[in-house]
Amino acid sequence: MSKDSVQIFDTTLRDGEQVPGCKLDTEQKLVIAERLNELGVDIIEAGFPISSPGDFRSVDEISKLVKDVVVCGLTRAVKKDIDVAAEALKNAERPRIHTGIGTSESHIKFKFNSNKEAIIEKAVAAVSHAKTYVEDVEFFAEDAGRTDNEFLARVCEAVIEAGATVLNIPDTTGYCLPEEYGAKIKYLKENVTGIHKATLSCHCHNDLGLATANSIAGVVNGARQIECTINGIGERAGNTSLEEVVMILRQHPSLGLDTRINSKLLFDTSKMVSQKMGMIVQPNKAIVGANAFAHSSGIHQDGVIKHRETYEIIDPEDVGVNESSIILTARSGRAALAYRAKIVGYELTKIQLDTVYQEFLKFADTKKEVMDEDIHQIIDTSNIDIES
Ligand code: KIV
Ligand code: ZN
Repeated sequence: MSKDSVQIFDTTLRDGEQVPGCKLDTEQKLVIAERLNELGVDIIEAGFPISSPGDFRSVDEISKLVKDVVVCGLTRAVKKDIDVAAEALKNAERPRIHTGIGTSESHIKFKFNSNKEAIIEKAVAAVSHAKTYVEDVEFFAEDAGRTDNEFLARVCEAVIEAGATVLNIPDTTGYCLPEEYGAKIKYLKENVTGIHKATLSCHCHNDLGLATANSIAGVVNGARQIECTINGIGERAGNTSLEEVVMILRQHPSLGLDTRINSKLLFDTSKMVSQKMGMIVQPNKAIVGANAFAHSSGIHQDGVIKHRETYEIIDPEDVGVNESSIILTARSGRAALAYRAKIVGYELTKIQLDTVYQEFLKFADTKKEVMDEDIHQIIDTSNIDIES
């Protein structure tokens, strides 16, 4: 079955970098941008040029450095923002301006003290102005997750008419349920005149832990771009995690959707971003966490040693992890002990294993994890006649 392509819009360097205490300098951003290009992302959101001279420089330098990928700069629906973004993007081979405005009741009332008609006017003016600089203009309807669908559709129609090529439907506050977010995308697909001229994009935040599920619901219902970050970093609870959405689409071919991402670079890219940002990846993080392919309980270890697929749905090599790991703990069984003992040079008979296993359990109860070097000591104290 031929698959529909989902564009990966990486915003690690813009929304991802909005993590308190994790500021990157331009040099660090350039290294990450090159890696994102190698990884195969379709769009790099390089920054918010008007926000600071550092961000301007980063967008400018990334535009010069990475070619064959779209480089995007964020703006508010403000003429000056758009002028500055266009200047920062002037050397990009494929520049995109990402402009927009809040569309929910609370944004219109409390943030802008405005009304719906004035918001549409500002949105159209921003897109029209961005269009004077670049062909590729993405519009974001901030807080679309809490925006009434009928009004959202009117906004979308107006900005498509003004030339927007991509419509970003952000669940800015991470509030939506997957069914609700999916239904919103479906509603727009079915009710916005001219929707065939633009790509719908999912931009989901993780406040309720639903960013990935919502993005998948979005593409299943017709969106064809996902905005995401490496390790899911971003404001508050973060953004949609790039590695998660990429692997979900890959592991579920029946969805008929895929990305261009070279998944073998995922683990390494995750480590690189974590180190540069000084932000650890939680060990149980899906796909790239230290424990994502580690097995520690006896039943699981026995299964994985017999056949990897008993407890693993992804081949670790597909995401750049050399192999699954069998971690020895007090919950490990004989199969795991024999497996690791063999790796460090002991081929134990069944009778030897029974004896060593009793020693192992005593030792393991005193430690969180039994390391390979501990195995020598356990075998020594087991008093069995063995050649190593
Ligand atoms: O979450 C959001 O709404 C955003 C927009 C600025 C695109 O990051
Ligand atoms: Zn965001």
